[in-house]
Amino acid sequence: MTVAEHIAVNIVMPDRAYAAHWDAIVVPPERKERLLHHALLAWGVRGKIAFEMSAVHGLAVLLGPPGTGKTTLARGLAYTASQVLQARRCRLVEIHPHGLMSAEHGQTQQAVSELLLQHLPELTEDSMPTIVLLDEVESMAVARSAASLSANPVDVHRATDAVLTALDDLTRRAPHLFFVVTSNYPEGLDAAFLSRADVVLDIGLPDAEALHRILVDTLRAWGAAYPGIERLADDASLATTARALQGVDGRQARKLVPQAIAGRLECALAPATLTAADLLGAASALARTQKEVRALHAH
Ligand SMILES: Nc1ncnc2c1ncn2[C@@H]1O[C@H](COP(=O)(O)OP(=O)(O)OP(=O)(O)O)[C@@H](O)[C@H]1O
Ligand SMILES: [Mg+2]
Repeated sequence: MTVAEHIAVNIVMPDRAYAAHWDAIVVPPERKERLLHHALLAWGVRGKIAFEMSAVHGLAVLLGPPGTGKTTLARGLAYTASQVLQARRCRLVEIHPHGLMSAEHGQTQQAVSELLLQHLPELTEDSMPTIVLLDEVESMAVARSAASLSANPVDVHRATDAVLTALDDLTRRAPHLFFVVTSNYPEGLDAAFLSRADVVLDIGLPDAEALHRILVDTLRAWGAAYPGIERLADDASLATTARALQGVDGRQARKLVPQAIAGRLECALAPATLTAADLLGAASALARTQKEVRALHAH
């Protein structure tokens, strides 16, 4: 596998396919604003103030359980930035660290350095503001103290060092890059890596109010395809359904609608016949399953 193959996405925003990402994720608005502001600031300040004074690395870390919107937010950030930057353009580059870490025995460090220090700057030669998404970064910047036994610990240490060195180097050399890294395993993240972050956002599970909003949003979207379903968004019982869902992540919350529809043959054939009772029943079942899964993991 060549280093170029570890780049999964390379597109220039605005791209309409990404227009809905930012708004689709229901989190307290100030969290999203902080992320956007840090990206804008990092693009603006570097080159004006010496790194030794500003310590701005151009790095945001998004932490949170699976299915809480981290990847979607990072992608949406690139689109949203393109709407507010003066030049109205922003690039999104996605790197898949998993593939890098499985580079041939002993080659990981070299692959990381080559990708981040050579290939990435070449790819973004035009200096357009760029969001570099390193998704599920724990596989790369794994805490050296908790280096997994399945990987060669020496190799993992070297790979982590390569990421840190690259971040230090790129913030000076390529100030148009803003790294967004996501992880649902914060304990596995290297402390020196977290220390370099300009902003660490802990995106927790949605609360009952957020779940309610996610359900409203999802029901309206289904209503556009199956007219009638959207009426359930205004049903008084939806708040109870949202409360029953507490503990469930945003991805699962959106899946409640198809779960409820699939609960009855008639409804699967004609989704517009979905009722508020179907939703509430499916919510209780989903929350129960979630609890059982957690209990299994705890053992
Ligand atoms: N807070 C949220 N509000 C609304 N929708 C959400 C939220 N969180 C997740 N979703 C839904 O779940 C889908 C998956 O989210 P995403 O892949 O961004 O999560 P993630 O945190 O990156 O998960 P993972 O850790 O498993 O990669 C989104 O497309 C969205 O539909
Ligand atoms: Mg993700």
